[in-house]
Amino acid sequence: MLTTQQPVLRRFWYPVIPVDHLLQGPQSFTLMGQPLVLWLGNGGQPAALADRCCHRSAQLSKGVVQNGCVRCPYHGWAYDALGTCTTVPQIDPGTAIPKTYQVPSYLCQERYGYVWVCLDDNPLQAIPEIPQFTDPSFRFIHEFYEPWQVGGLRAIENSFDSAHGHFVHASSWGDMANPQPPPIDEVTETSFGFVMKHWLEVLNPDLQKKNLGIEGEKTIRTNTRTWYMPFARTLHIEYPNGLIHLIFTAYTPIDDQHSQVVQFCLRNDTETEAKAADIIAFDRQVTSEDRVILEGTDYDAPLSLAEEQHMASDRPGILMRHRLAKLLKDHGESEQRRPDH
Ligand code: FES
Ligand SMILES: [Fe+2]
Repeated sequence: MLTTQQPVLRRFWYPVIPVDHLLQGPQSFTLMGQPLVLWLGNGGQPAALADRCCHRSAQLSKGVVQNGCVRCPYHGWAYDALGTCTTVPQIDPGTAIPKTYQVPSYLCQERYGYVWVCLDDNPLQAIPEIPQFTDPSFRFIHEFYEPWQVGGLRAIENSFDSAHGHFVHASSWGDMANPQPPPIDEVTETSFGFVMKHWLEVLNPDLQKKNLGIEGEKTIRTNTRTWYMPFARTLHIEYPNGLIHLIFTAYTPIDDQHSQVVQFCLRNDTETEAKAADIIAFDRQVTSEDRVILEGTDYDAPLSLAEEQHMASDRPGILMRHRLAKLLKDHGESEQRRPDH
């Protein structure tokens, strides 16, 4: 499936940039092949427009913010959050600005410290609800914001793949002597994806002993994984001592071959009990282990099951393929593939 070739995927919200990056002025981000300019407009609300001035096509993201509008660096035309040109310095004040001086605008809002954008005016789903974000017993830890060379479906299915850990994460928590994952306890389909529960026995290296407050050489993770179609998830890990490590990850589609990794975690412990820097260090190791593998995969993951081979633990990825195939069909689309497929 080629993400940029499936218009229905434009009807989802994606986190595109930490909102505090916009304190430096307008920024650019390419979402599903669409270059955007993002900035903080009136009242500090984020705004998103196509990153191309309608005068002579300059990149608005190279401009500045002025009176809540983004001002083009080339001749100084300025645009508001709806993409309407509000200032043309070369015409007399009071002269009407033609209505055609307009740049496409996109739905944009701030949530969880990130700017989220939907490229369509009618999103199919709301931004994922993560109640722990406002729960005072949880702390928020920003983890990663970086582009990977991987297709969205390859990346998101990895997050639900309970068989890869003992190999890919053999240097962090994987136990190669124990390669068979326990069966998935429960899968509940939802309107936005699915919720999957299972448990996993993992090795508990020294850094994790500190981070988790658990002494043993092994521990058990009780996992609730929620898929937010198409490329986001939460992984709610509960340890035997009641510690919860909840990870949100989005693989925001930059284009068919690249995804922006957006990851933060929420924990019901304190900085005294476990340093955020140590928590990030361990998750960095794990995430980097995934990245090496994922960047080597074929970005054009097929929705059809006939093209690749499968095993029992692939059930979440298979369900994702079914649901995405149904999504395309329901919206009159057929799966688009690389020309050489
Ligand atoms: S190109 Fe933007 S004002 Fe001329
Ligand atoms: Fe992994």
